[in-house]
Amino acid sequence: MSSLDRSQKLTIAMPKGRIFEEAVHFLQQAGLQVTAELQDSRKLVIPVENAQLEFILAKPTDVPTYVEYGVADVGVVGKDVLLEEERDVYELLDLQIGYCRMMVAGMPDWKPTEAPRVATKYPKIASRYFREQGQQVEVIKLNGSVELAPMIGLADRIVDIVSTGRTLKENGLIELEHICEITTRLIANRASYRMKSGAVDDIAQKFMEVIPRSIR
Ligand code: PRP
Repeated sequence: MSSLDRSQKLTIAMPKGRIFEEAVHFLQQAGLQVTAELQDSRKLVIPVENAQLEFILAKPTDVPTYVEYGVADVGVVGKDVLLEEERDVYELLDLQIGYCRMMVAGMPDWKPTEAPRVATKYPKIASRYFREQGQQVEVIKLNGSVELAPMIGLADRIVDIVSTGRTLKENGLIELEHICEITTRLIANRASYRMKSGAVDDIAQKFMEVIPRSIR
């Protein structure tokens, strides 16, 4: 199918924040109508006229929730959020944007202690990682500015995403262990994937054409 099935309106959940601009650029490259409202306004629901499309702007961690419950048919979200939220959604495509890495980081003079503490926005990912390493740690959940924790003695180490490395560097922290690579994914609601297969396939096809062939 080359264009959206007119009877199948699709709601796309987009993540506000770090990957938003790159994701919007990706949509534009895929030929989707991206209105100024999506980029500039404070509106959270943005219908695209004559395109059977609607965007909702969500906090990145909530994107898989909206998609699991079907209030969004598809969503654009980082693999970090998917690994942490463990929502029941289909992961359709790796969009190969929003590159970063999930790392353990700490102060350069970090030394193992008897009751190590790890601060993170990603408690599930961190717990899973240290369990696999056979290390017992206490995981402390924070909601942002995680780099602060080792600097002021709240935790020995952090688990966080690193993109340019600038935040770590400017706060005197170093990368210690690599957990996994992170990219942005296209996800779909399980029912939408069946009931709106034409529209979902159409979006996925358009997105696939933007992903360079060599890395698809
Ligand atoms: C992420 C991450 C780091 C920073 C890394 O935070 O938690 O703090 O980006 O990026 P860098 O390696 O390019 O410096 P984000 O900007 O998503 O904001 P938050 O801490 O408010 O969640």
